[in-house]
Amino acid sequence: MALQIFRTKKIVSHSDSNDGLKRCLSAWDLVFLGVGAIIGTGIFVLTGIAAATQAGPAIVLSFVIAGLACAFAALSYAELSSAVGGCGSAYGYSYAAFGELIAFIIGWDLLLEYGISVAAVANGWSGYFQNALTALGIPLPDALTKAPVLGGIINLPAAAIILLLMGLLVMGVKHSAKANNTMVVVKLITISIFIGIAVFNVHPDNWHPFMPYGWFQTLPDGKTAGVFAGASLVFFAYVGFDAVSTAAEEAKNPQRDLPFGIVTSLVFCTVIYIIVSGLLTGVVHYSELNVSSPVAHALTLLGYDWGAALISTGVIAGLTTVMLVLYYGLTRIIFAMSRDGLLAPFFSKVNRNTQTPVRVIVLCGVIIALIAGFVPLGELAELVNIGTLAAFVLVCLGVIVLRITKPNLDRPFRTPFSPLFPVLGMLSCGALMGFLPSITWLRFIIWLIIGLIVYFSYSIHHSKLVKE
Ligand code: ALA
Repeated sequence: MALQIFRTKKIVSHSDSNDGLKRCLSAWDLVFLGVGAIIGTGIFVLTGIAAATQAGPAIVLSFVIAGLACAFAALSYAELSSAVGGCGSAYGYSYAAFGELIAFIIGWDLLLEYGISVAAVANGWSGYFQNALTALGIPLPDALTKAPVLGGIINLPAAAIILLLMGLLVMGVKHSAKANNTMVVVKLITISIFIGIAVFNVHPDNWHPFMPYGWFQTLPDGKTAGVFAGASLVFFAYVGFDAVSTAAEEAKNPQRDLPFGIVTSLVFCTVIYIIVSGLLTGVVHYSELNVSSPVAHALTLLGYDWGAALISTGVIAGLTTVMLVLYYGLTRIIFAMSRDGLLAPFFSKVNRNTQTPVRVIVLCGVIIALIAGFVPLGELAELVNIGTLAAFVLVCLGVIVLRITKPNLDRPFRTPFSPLFPVLGMLSCGALMGFLPSITWLRFIIWLIIGLIVYFSYSIHHSKLVKE
């Protein structure tokens, strides 16, 4: 048993790791996938909450800190995605570096990251969509827009958008990428409009006091505040660049393009976040930003109602791409785990016509639609963060371990200053985990215990490595 759980998987090259998926994504498709997954709820919703309740105008520092932690992790992702084939992302890299049990745990953890974020973002999307319908004079009744515990029957828009994306993903990754690219352009245009307006309306007085909650403190009600607590919340805004690595089996030139897609999308979004969060707290006092749509709200307060309406369009498009790419990533990770025998083989069948794993796409779509329709998931960003941060820590450690155990592996991209940068990545991501509230830790541990039960009752006996 002890040996079994530490068995590692042989590293397959990118050219040997393609089980029928279609290689059709270009380098820029990957950058757009990254930007599609990254810019969403984090900047459009959480920035306001984090500024008002945790960091004040120093939210901009929270973005810098979270961005730095992600940059170290992204460089590690870039190295491993260029060297290790397969679409399992951190799960696949861990299988080669640490062995099966850790790989399973991290794969299980990624299911949480991607699955919960898609359902949670669908809830946010539904709110914006309802606002747009109401503005057009066609409001939906509460029964169809709220989960049962909130007094409704179903959050229909949240469930419906997931089923729509399911159809898109079934049709093929190229179609999905085209739709993603268009919606990313829409969201970038709306962000540019916000920047264009805000830049001329900054009142430097709003930036005082700059750091009203200090660096870190635990409040009497158990909640956390300060720049670091803000960083561990707005970290959610960066979640998604890692999803680029799940496109490894559908990228035309994965060795060169995955590192490019991961690093370019992250750098681009970090710059946008710093500009937007700085401007947001410059145009409106941070205490007024604790609303569900702070960017649009700021423009309304400035008297730009048309700008606020436009931002809402951008948010609807923007959140759609976040769901699309993370849902895509989720299906590819389950596909990889099933192919390795750690989840049921049912999930790793590729449809010959569409060249997509249709079964896993449909099953995930139905489950996420049910969760999004019946469970209100507004407050689960921190749970996603802890899962993602854990994956980042292991990916950074994976770089160090594989440099020692597989020194001759072909690495088209090498993390600079290794092992310093990977160690900094581990420390900074680990610290951000430490700033999360204890309830988040508890939920995370419960999820991992469920994973361990699945592993020891099913996966360990069905692993493909048993046969090998
Ligand atoms: N980064 C994504 C968002 O902010 C998950 O919505």
